[in-house]
Amino acid sequence: MCGIVGYTGQRKALPILLDSLKRLEYRGYDSAGVAIVGSELKVVKDKGFIANLEAQLPAIEGTTGLAHTRWATHGAPSKVNAHPHVDCSGRLAIAHNGIIENFMEIRERMEKEGHVFASQTDTESLVHLVESYYDGNLETAVRSALREVRGSFAIAAVHADEPGRIVGARNESPLVIGVGPDENFLASDVPALLKHTDKVLYILDKEIVVLTASGVAISDLEGRTVSREPERITWTLEDAEKGGFEHFMLKEIFEQPAAIHETLLGRIANLDVNGFFAEGFTSVKLVACGTSYHAALVGKYILEEIAQIPASAELASEYRYAHGPSERPLVILLSQSGETADTLGAMREAKRRGCKTLGICNVVGSSLAREVDKTIYTRAGLEIGVAATKTFVTQLVALYLIALRGGLDRGTLGYEEADGLKDQLRSLPRAVQAVLNRSEEIERLAEKYRDAKDMFYIGRHVNYPVAMEGALKLKEISYVHAEAYAAGELKHGPLALLTPATPVVAIAVRDHTYEKMRSNIGEVVARGSPVLAIASEGDREIVKFVDDVLAVPELPGIFNPAPVTVAMQLFAYHLARTRQCPIDKPRNLAKSVTVE
Ligand code: F6R
Repeated sequence: MCGIVGYTGQRKALPILLDSLKRLEYRGYDSAGVAIVGSELKVVKDKGFIANLEAQLPAIEGTTGLAHTRWATHGAPSKVNAHPHVDCSGRLAIAHNGIIENFMEIRERMEKEGHVFASQTDTESLVHLVESYYDGNLETAVRSALREVRGSFAIAAVHADEPGRIVGARNESPLVIGVGPDENFLASDVPALLKHTDKVLYILDKEIVVLTASGVAISDLEGRTVSREPERITWTLEDAEKGGFEHFMLKEIFEQPAAIHETLLGRIANLDVNGFFAEGFTSVKLVACGTSYHAALVGKYILEEIAQIPASAELASEYRYAHGPSERPLVILLSQSGETADTLGAMREAKRRGCKTLGICNVVGSSLAREVDKTIYTRAGLEIGVAATKTFVTQLVALYLIALRGGLDRGTLGYEEADGLKDQLRSLPRAVQAVLNRSEEIERLAEKYRDAKDMFYIGRHVNYPVAMEGALKLKEISYVHAEAYAAGELKHGPLALLTPATPVVAIAVRDHTYEKMRSNIGEVVARGSPVLAIASEGDREIVKFVDDVLAVPELPGIFNPAPVTVAMQLFAYHLARTRQCPIDKPRNLAKSVTVE
């Protein structure tokens, strides 16, 4: 949701900024811009991808600057709405990620004071507000302005009168500082920094940071100094590159066996995860958005089946505004980024209601991880493709671990049974690898279905949310309309939509719902819709009455979601590829949605 980078040091800022910005392009890509402070402030921006901006950039001298890649919230994607925005003097530039909620009243006030606005963005209100306070000290002007601002923001500001200085600030949008020798960096996310340093400082809400080549000074909105030591990050530059794959998404799909292994490492033998169940919780609420919400839905089945604890899943954007009952379940919040605004809002609401909170998160040091009572990290590594893949599967792994620990703590699971389940869990990387080995076969299937305009995904029990995840992957990267249904629900309405032009992906693995799934597939076939079944290896029956079969290793029911999802990820990937879609940067989307 917009990416910001900043650099100040001894080197030319422009190439560093462009390279770093490209590593944040997954956060937004409808327009981009740079502001460099040399002998004067120079700002260049345009609509479109960063490559488009780069193609028209003159050589700009200067060793301090900032850059921005945008995902539009206020104001359509256009050159004029692209960041950085400048003040009336053309000497102050600000790049912003987030939403200034009271921008209208600030804008009206500034216009009355004679400020002239060029764009429709909320950000420009902030620029003129800072300008109105500027008397030669950018830091104090930013501090004064931010005291009046409501909303979420991560900002970076430069002023032509203070070359060599960047002022940053954050509230509810991520901002991280990269610390180098004689140079310092600012970014919305770590991938932008990996080429230059592994020493980072996370800026927290309502903090201001001043960067010069020789130092980083953090303070709060009241001006009190904050001391914080840099942390070392373990992600490497290699993690942020495609490593020979055509797209990040494909690379990340193929990293799944290793990601599962990593997430289990050191935890599975002794079930070394604290899910709080020893504290006597009698129910669990799983809360998340998008793909993480689908993991939450799967988690409901995992927790109920393995730990015998009542569980329910809710969308974060709904939970936070619901008038919940007075009981206090354990609230598990799932988020790859740990920065999703809706999920953070839900987490704060859960705390307000007096609930204990447990985060399942992939990003160390993220807002979610810092604010929940306890975090279990999914060690999936850096995920850059906008479509979540390896983080979904590792969220499932974390849920299996929590459920196993919970079952033992609650006395609802015997040790012998737990050992059997652990073995299944240990076999997941192999099962997923077996699906990856079928990538070429899946590619051929995807080519067959590439012209579909609408598709349905059906499944039962734990495979119902898995069908939802399959449909989401397809629509977000291939733009094919896809709907997921609990297979038993088709006859209650959606069957009316089925025709020979609406292929159906049916998850029909051998579990306790298999017979019922076969009946539902029969209902679909009778309406003339082509059926692609995702079935267990060696199922000789299903091939007789569906059009295509995609085989996955046979596993006990509750462990099917991982391999089945991976099969559907590959199907969506190859289908999007044959349709020549921009897979890592789907239109209108961005990774890490830090606005409501
Ligand atoms: C879909 C996708 C999104 C995210 C959602 C939540 O492929 O990636 O639906 O799952 O925006 O993001 P996190 O998990 O970062 O909270």
